[in-house]
Amino acid sequence: MLRALRSVVGEEHVLVDPDVVASHVVDWTGGFVGSSPAVVRPGSTDEVAEVVAACRRDRIALVPQGGNTGLVGGGVPLAGEVVLSTSRLAGITEVDADAGQLTAGAGETLAAVQRAAAGAGWRYGVDLAARDSATIGGTVATNAGGLRVLRHGTTRHQLLGVEAVLGTGDVVSRLGGLVKDNTGYDLAGLLCGSEGTLGVVTRVRLALVPAPGPTVTSLIGLATVADAVSLVGHLRRAVPTLEAAELVLADGARLVAEQTGVVPVLDPVPPVQVAVEAVGPPDPTDALAAALEAHPGVLDVAVATDAARAVALWHVREAHTEAIARLGVPRKYDVTVPSPRLARFVEQVPDLIRAVDPDAQVWIFGHLGDGNLHVNVTTPSGPGPPRTGPLRTGRAGVARDAVADAVLGRVVADGGSVSAEHGIGTAKRSWLVRDRSAGDVAGMRAIKAALDPDGILNPNVLL
Ligand code: FAD
Ligand code: MLT
Ligand code: ZN
Repeated sequence: MLRALRSVVGEEHVLVDPDVVASHVVDWTGGFVGSSPAVVRPGSTDEVAEVVAACRRDRIALVPQGGNTGLVGGGVPLAGEVVLSTSRLAGITEVDADAGQLTAGAGETLAAVQRAAAGAGWRYGVDLAARDSATIGGTVATNAGGLRVLRHGTTRHQLLGVEAVLGTGDVVSRLGGLVKDNTGYDLAGLLCGSEGTLGVVTRVRLALVPAPGPTVTSLIGLATVADAVSLVGHLRRAVPTLEAAELVLADGARLVAEQTGVVPVLDPVPPVQVAVEAVGPPDPTDALAAALEAHPGVLDVAVATDAARAVALWHVREAHTEAIARLGVPRKYDVTVPSPRLARFVEQVPDLIRAVDPDAQVWIFGHLGDGNLHVNVTTPSGPGPPRTGPLRTGRAGVARDAVADAVLGRVVADGGSVSAEHGIGTAKRSWLVRDRSAGDVAGMRAIKAALDPDGILNPNVLL
C-alpha cells in the first residue's frame, strides 16, 4: 500500500517517521489520540483521486486532515487509518475583484483567504480564532461558523462551488462561481458540513462580502444573561450592520485574565459581558452609543474604534479556548439553544453537570447572536485518559457520558442542536440519532452509501 501511495505522490510525501506522524494523530484538545501507518500529502486533485482509488481498491480507510484544529475528534485517525493531509493543496488560484469571488486550494489557511480577499478590496465573511491554522477545506468540511455568522451566515453561505474527490474516486468540480446555478443537486452544499465522510474537498470557490468601513467594537457589562439576550435583540434592530454579538461570563473572564496575565478591560468584572462589533459605512459608532443608552441594564461599556484597541477588547472572548485548554483536556459541548430558552439554559446547566460530576468546572461562552453556546467542562483532578477509539470505555467514559447526557439531553429537550458549528465528529456520534429523526438518519446513510460505498472516508465520524 505504501508503495502504491509513493508512486502517486512521491516518496517524500508519504510520511512514516513516527515523530512526524505523531503530530497528526492527536487532536487540538489532546483528548483524541490515535495512530496511523502514514500521512500522505497529495499535491493536486488528480493525486487525491489516485490516492482514494488506491485505498478503495485495498479497502484502506482514510482520514482527511487540514489544520487539525477541529474540536470533535473528526480529523485524527482513531483506528489506524491513513491520514490524507491537504497541506500541499494550497494556493489562491483566482481572485475575481469585480465579482467578489476567489478560488482557494483546500489546504490554504483561513487567514490567507482573508488576506487575499482584503487585497482585492473585499472581505471573507467567516472568521474564527483558529484562523492562522484552520484550513479553508476544513472550514468547508465542518461548515464552520465563528464570529460573524450573525451578519454573513456560516461557511455554507459563502460557498459557490467545490472541487472534491468522492469516496468512489470520482471527481466533482464546479468552480465557475455562478451565483444562479440550479442544474441538479447542490453537491457543494452537501459536501459542506459532511466532515470528510463523503469526499475530500480539494478546491473551493468563495463569495466575498464588501470590505468594512469604519468599525466599532464594544464590550458591554450586564447583570444577567437574560439582559444580554434582550440587548442583542435590541442592537440587531437598532444597528443593522451588527456583525458579532458574543457572550462572556464572569468566571471565564477571570480565567482568561489569570491564564494570560492580561488585565480585564471591564474591571470590576461584571457578571455578564457581550462583545459586539458593527461596521460602516456609515460609521456605526453613534448608532451603537444611542442604542446602548436607550437599553436598561447596561452596567459598563468599553468602546474601540481603532484596530489595536479592538484586539484588546476581543481578547477576553477570543482567549477562552486557550485559557480553558490550559486547565487540562476539556470536554467540549458546542450547542445551539433557542433564544427564548437560552438564559435559563446558561443558568441551569452548571448544576445539571455538577449533579453527575461534582468536581466539574463549567465554562460557558459563545456566539450569543445566533444562540450558539460553548459549554466546556474541566476537572481539577485531571481529564481522565484520552480517547483512543471511537467508543469510550472505562470509568472515565461513564462519567463523560453522564455529563454529555446532562448537557446534550437538555439541549434536545429545549429544541436546540447538539452540534452547532464544530460538527458531530467522533465525539457526538451517539447523539446524532437522538437529535435527528430516524428518517433523517436513514437519508444520511443512503447518501453515505452512494458517495462512499466502501466506507473508506472517515469511518469513525458522524454515522
Ligand atoms: P481539521 O481539524 O483538520 O478537520 C476537521 C474535520 O474536517 C475532520 O472531520 C476532517 O476529516 C475534515 N476535513 C478537513 N479538511 C478536509 C477536506 N479538505 N476535505 C474533506 N474533509 C476535510 N470552529 C467554528 O466553527 N467556529 C469557531 O469560532 C471556532 N473557533 C475555534 C477556535 C480555536 C482556538 C480552535 C482550536 C478551534 C476553533 N474552531 C471553531 C474549530 C475549528 O477551527 C474548525 O472546525 C475548522 O473548520 C477546522 O479546520 P481544520 O482545517 O483545522 O480541519
Ligand atoms: C469559539 O467560538 O471560540 C470556538 O468555537 C472554540 C471553542 O468552542 O472553544
Ligand atoms: Zn465557536
